[in-house]
Amino acid sequence: MTSPSSSSFNHRVALVTGSSSGIGYETTLMLARNGFLTYATMRDLKKSEPIKVVQLDVTDDRSVKNAVQSITSECSKIDVLVNNAGYALNGAFEDIAMEELKAQYETNLFGVARVTQAVLPLMRKQKSGVIVNISSGVVPMGGFPGGSAYVSTKFAIEGLSRSMRYELESFGIKVILVEPGVIGTNFFNAVVVAKKSKDPSSPYSRIMEKMAPRFEEIMKNASSPELVARVVLRAITDENPGLIYLAGKDIEELKEANRGMSDEEFYTMMKKNFNLDSIESTIGAKN
Ligand SMILES: NC(=O)c1ccc[n+]([C@@H]2O[C@H](COP(=O)([O-])OP(=O)(O)OC[C@H]3O[C@@H](n4cnc5c(N)ncnc54)[C@H](OP(=O)(O)O)[C@@H]3O)[C@@H](O)[C@H]2O)c1
Repeated sequence: MTSPSSSSFNHRVALVTGSSSGIGYETTLMLARNGFLTYATMRDLKKSEPIKVVQLDVTDDRSVKNAVQSITSECSKIDVLVNNAGYALNGAFEDIAMEELKAQYETNLFGVARVTQAVLPLMRKQKSGVIVNISSGVVPMGGFPGGSAYVSTKFAIEGLSRSMRYELESFGIKVILVEPGVIGTNFFNAVVVAKKSKDPSSPYSRIMEKMAPRFEEIMKNASSPELVARVVLRAITDENPGLIYLAGKDIEELKEANRGMSDEEFYTMMKKNFNLDSIESTIGAKN
């Protein structure tokens, strides 16, 4: 947190979730450097260096309530909320256990819901506020094999955001979606692989194997988390922000390529991209 002095309440106050690394970390710094009194929040305070932070685990009601209360008691306002915390669960859908799926939703979707509901009464009272939900380029991409759990949380965030936008506009509250492409953060190391998906006898193991080198390849062109932070800053300082901000050349190019393509054409193109155009014969041979 940038130190709150008595004059600091002239600043706009921002709360960022998942500030311990990657996009959340860079966004926290970017907002602080650009005049926002910025609260970095994270579930493990040992990861706080070099900024002062507030504990906030998005899966924990009490933690969220306490964090929002402590910011409110210091500043009496929250102008910007960046819902950033998240991780990816990977594995073919049939291989995903319900507990794994629920945990994914608990963080990525209910986490966003929990923090947003905790902040909204204050924003409504203020008659102003900006909520930035970090979605993903997987939404315009439409999905990928092994991504059903993660991708569906991001689609849910988009539905949530689009609906809330109508509800909140008359209260002076703006809702923005940021869709980053592939970003070089800890995200890929933190991927949780579904237990059953690690079993080589899974009927989906060939598809997962085929995807692995593709992930390594796309990581080579990853954009920096600073780029996403700059997009967040631009979005929240735009006088009339749009709904969706893309972050990354890869996702801009993909969206452009998709323009004018039928769903079937796009699916065929993506299948080729994922090295899956010859997968039917491979699977046929296996089962
Ligand atoms: N990297 C990409 O290519 C990419 C692309 C599109 C969208 N995104 C989205 O960008 C967001 C940030 O990801 P990143 O790339 O910056 O990855 P990252 O470096 O792994 O950061 C994820 C952050 O979320 C936090 N987090 C996870 N579970 C949490 C919880 N229960 N409560 C509070 N914080 C929690 C992590 O905290 P801990 O350190 O405590 O685990 C970490 O600070 C995610 O929503 C992700 O889906 C990433």
